[in-house]
Amino acid sequence: MVNKYLYLNTIGCQMNVYDSEQIAMRLARLGYQQTSALEMADLVIVNTCTIRAKAEQKAFSFLGRLARLKKKKPGLITGVGGCVAQQEGEKIFKRIPYLDLVFGTQAINRLPELIQKIETKRCRIVDIAIDDKPEFAEAHSIVRQNSQMSRFVTIMRGCDNFCSYCVVPYVRGRETSRHPDVVINEIQELSQAGLKEVTLLGQNVNSYGKKEGLCSFTELLFRVRNIEQLLRIRFTTSHPKDLDDDLINAFRTNDKLCNHIHLPVQSGSNRVLKRMNRKYSKELYLDKVAKLRDTCPDIAITSDIIVGFPGESNAEFDETLDLIQTIEFDGLFAFMYSDRPNAPAAKFDQKVSEQQKKDRLQNLLERQEKLTRMKNQALVGNIMPILAEGFSKKQSSGNLNHPHQAVQWTGRTSTNKIVNFYQADSPENCGEITPGKLVLIKIEKAYSHSLWGEPVDSKSLVEGLKGEESYAA
Ligand code: 5AD
Ligand code: SF4
Repeated sequence: MVNKYLYLNTIGCQMNVYDSEQIAMRLARLGYQQTSALEMADLVIVNTCTIRAKAEQKAFSFLGRLARLKKKKPGLITGVGGCVAQQEGEKIFKRIPYLDLVFGTQAINRLPELIQKIETKRCRIVDIAIDDKPEFAEAHSIVRQNSQMSRFVTIMRGCDNFCSYCVVPYVRGRETSRHPDVVINEIQELSQAGLKEVTLLGQNVNSYGKKEGLCSFTELLFRVRNIEQLLRIRFTTSHPKDLDDDLINAFRTNDKLCNHIHLPVQSGSNRVLKRMNRKYSKELYLDKVAKLRDTCPDIAITSDIIVGFPGESNAEFDETLDLIQTIEFDGLFAFMYSDRPNAPAAKFDQKVSEQQKKDRLQNLLERQEKLTRMKNQALVGNIMPILAEGFSKKQSSGNLNHPHQAVQWTGRTSTNKIVNFYQADSPENCGEITPGKLVLIKIEKAYSHSLWGEPVDSKSLVEGLKGEESYAA
């Protein structure tokens, strides 16, 4: 078989990272090998995101760059998948005349047939069919090709919440959960191939299985817990209104569940939350945070905030600032509101000016940076189990005069904080570091986005232990 090359550009969320793996796996069966060199590609696919205007602009700017390539290589096949494809459909052909394929969020299973058709007939295709019971792609064959110590596994797709700013329900369809047996099988297979940490993915994992009458999300977490080789479980994203006591208690009772929850609050103003259709109040959110911290004192809580939602006054924005100061999140993702097609808020009046949105974002991020640094600083001196992932990006700064400092490692705490470190001076005590291994690290320095530490004698570390107790030094 002739070698054919696929260049796959993934934009946006973790859901797209998972979907891109599914795309690559299906195209591998057609003989497409992935390449990171765009000029080598016979097929270019852009997996797009439309959650915010910026992500969509990124996709179109990349597609614009393909014009030259297509001229040089007329046989090149180009396709757009994901949420922008779902939303825009055929209209993309008008904007990008040299495009061959537009495929929606539920067309990944059909991708091989679509590409084969284009290869043989050189036609242009749009497939954005969407139904309430999408077939889920299974991950089996990528497992064998590409073993990893940490990866995402989708447990549900779509969303039924209809937050007024959000495009997801329109481009990803209704909420649908995968059967627990299928999820467990997939993770089991992945763990036999070396998986140590899994992140269960969904737009709103707390409502997993409710519609279909499957097991609850907390029960699923316990089934995942029983997969022997697996050391850590994470999940994202949670909706505050669906975070129940069972799940909160799982942070205490499920020893593999990491001490971190991403719980988007979006705003600290009850009037704004109502207009966002979030279905909870600031008070309910504070109550959930208090329960989480009561149950699991070490838990790290991160969140999403939208600034400049239509009609958000200065006083309402100040309420958001007060909330982040009260809660002291471990980290925050903050976004300037942007209108999205079909989302009701696009039609709301009293739009906040771009300048005001920028000022609010900067104000919020500056305050949060201080809080994050303070939280990280409090960890200095602690000894924490870190799951080693691989070499850090800064590995070239290693000190070649000291063999153990030749490469810089990176990993995460159970609370999802990045820790960089060198191999220990005396690996005979601390053990050779390998990806997927839990290593005990003493935290020496704190920065705003990472920590720095030194390996310590790991004999005291029991494998598989909640990885996450921190031992005061
Ligand atoms: N404008 C800005 N931010 C948005 N988000 C979702 N929709 C929009 C929008 N229209 C943010 C929310 C969500 C995160 C994934 O993206 O904070 O939690
Ligand atoms: Fe969008 Fe709201 Fe669903 Fe999240 S919960 S995907 S913000 S509609």
